[in-house]
Amino acid sequence: MEFPLTNRFDTDIVRSRIMGPNTLKLTEELMADAGIPRGFVVLDLGSGSGISSAMLAREYGLTAYAADLWSDPSENMRFFESLGLTNHQIIPVKADAAQLPFAHGFFDAVVCVDSYNYYGRDPEYLGNCLLPFVKSEGRIYLAIPGMRKDCHDNPPACLRVSWTAEQLDYIHDMNWWRNMISQTPGVEIVSMCEMECTREAWADWIACDNEYAIGDRAAVEAGALDYLNTISVVLHKA
Ligand SMILES: C[S@@+](CC[C@H](N)C(=O)[O-])C[C@H]1O[C@@H](n2cnc3c(N)ncnc32)[C@H](O)[C@@H]1O
Repeated sequence: MEFPLTNRFDTDIVRSRIMGPNTLKLTEELMADAGIPRGFVVLDLGSGSGISSAMLAREYGLTAYAADLWSDPSENMRFFESLGLTNHQIIPVKADAAQLPFAHGFFDAVVCVDSYNYYGRDPEYLGNCLLPFVKSEGRIYLAIPGMRKDCHDNPPACLRVSWTAEQLDYIHDMNWWRNMISQTPGVEIVSMCEMECTREAWADWIACDNEYAIGDRAAVEAGALDYLNTISVVLHKA
């Protein structure tokens, strides 16, 4: 795949800020047909170190709220400033996805890259905790780390190299997510498919020099990506 917007970010910066498969490539593929008008307000939920939020603000011209539980919003702000982004373009917020500190109907769209599987596995989550904050007719874009086919009963050795059974419980296949999401009234699944960039995004991640990437590298080299995928989901709020 071609990633012209991702390529506008410095490789060393990307490597220092991603927390899993290259979030810029995942975001660029997820946004490819989104057509969200410039100036719209988007929530980047579970934004981590905020590099996807920076892409949404700088490359797509959106007003991006970078909301995350574990990362430091002040550190993210310094990063955004280093890219020349202002607080009119991007707003870092410490927030729990289960208790979002925003007004109902505030966001034109929500983007979640590599984070929905932490909090979206509760069938009540979407309807109670996220959908209320999206405008009517708004959209939600998810890139979820997934499995090609659920194999929790007998996970292959290559997955067990890096992940415990408890960690694998965060990863499911498309049918599982379809069933989870379709229980929520007031939202329509516009599309759900396997993303093309999974292997490339993982290659960028395991090239990083941090302990998590090094641990995941062993699993990938043992064949984990024969079992894993990334699931893109686009939702429309009625
Ligand atoms: C694997 S990291 C991915 C970060 C970023 N989206 C990326 O792709 O680099 C998962 C992120 O989910 C966030 N997260 C997990 N549970 C959360 C919650 N309840 N509310 C908000 N963020 C959460 C963490 O803070 C972490 O930054």
